[in-house]
Amino acid sequence: MSDDLETLREQTVQALAAATDMREWDAVRVGTLGKSGRLTALLKELGRMTPDARRQRGGALNRLRDELSRLIEARGQELETAALNARLAAERVDVTLPCAPQAEGLLHPITRTIEEMTAIFGAMGFQLAEGPDIESDWHNFSALNTPAHHPARTDQDTFYLPAVAEGQPERVLRTQTSGVQIRTMLGKEPPIRIIAPGRTYRADHDATHSPMFHQCEGLVIEKGITLGHLKGCLSDFLRAFFQMPDLPVRFRASYFPFTEPSMEIDIGWSRKTGQIGTGGDWLEVLGAGMVHPRVLANCGLDAREWQGFAFGMGIERLTMLRHGIPDLRSFYESDVRWLRHYGTSPLSPALLHEGL
Ligand code: DAH
Repeated sequence: MSDDLETLREQTVQALAAATDMREWDAVRVGTLGKSGRLTALLKELGRMTPDARRQRGGALNRLRDELSRLIEARGQELETAALNARLAAERVDVTLPCAPQAEGLLHPITRTIEEMTAIFGAMGFQLAEGPDIESDWHNFSALNTPAHHPARTDQDTFYLPAVAEGQPERVLRTQTSGVQIRTMLGKEPPIRIIAPGRTYRADHDATHSPMFHQCEGLVIEKGITLGHLKGCLSDFLRAFFQMPDLPVRFRASYFPFTEPSMEIDIGWSRKTGQIGTGGDWLEVLGAGMVHPRVLANCGLDAREWQGFAFGMGIERLTMLRHGIPDLRSFYESDVRWLRHYGTSPLSPALLHEGL
């Protein structure tokens, strides 16, 4: 090998050994084999040589190019491996270190009640259903056998919303979850067994009323459903919810436009101590009844073929009774101290069906 090639070889080998990272390595590679690299320049000179000289010089140059290519490639891999090993060492995770403490959030008691209701009714074969907070007047009232000017409408201080466009039906903030009954019956074939927890609204605000509150609706439509099913289902629910197998439950005749017969359901308690289950007094907790044939007809169901019962309850009210929460307004004040006291861990066994 001629001296200049020997020098080039030596210098390249030294530069490769001196390169400590991929950037430096790449500079050597480009400086040797790149478009204007030193070896490339020598190769270009071949074209101006006589055939004899070219043959001699060409062979030597090609061997040198092969050798340097191999050396460059090998050094590249060496540096790459070294860089990876350095990273692995630097980024090693010590799995034995204790983790940083994390604050656990708590579930609001309303959420907890909804989850418990879902678990209890779920075990009885009910599915969850829902409807919109902004509801048509028809779903909220008319289809539920409460036409315009029906006296029952005045019981509920309704928030009316302007119609979307002229000639469109009037809209309301739903005053009750009962409209979900209509949506469910129109949306699927019986048999039906649903509960529908959700927000409801009435223009009412004092110590025991909030303009936004929660209800849970229930609907069963099957063949041969009787008042006996209603009584069994709701007694079971109340006893499971209050965790009292012998909770006194009373069914008292009442009136709702969408059920016939209608009833209110009371549980035993003490007016004096506020204790549930004993004391000889009665406290109303639920409305219910057999679905009115006119409501079935409004949903295209033949009352001679299908029967059912419906019920509705206030979620705040049941939550207050269950956990001894004295003031309705505290539910919406977002006071973290209150939530820490009445909130429930998402992992609490009380939320699991087995815990009920
Ligand atoms: N929607 C009624 C209310 O807001 C509660 C209710 C009563 C719902 C009887 C029902 C029912 O489904 O059958 O007061």
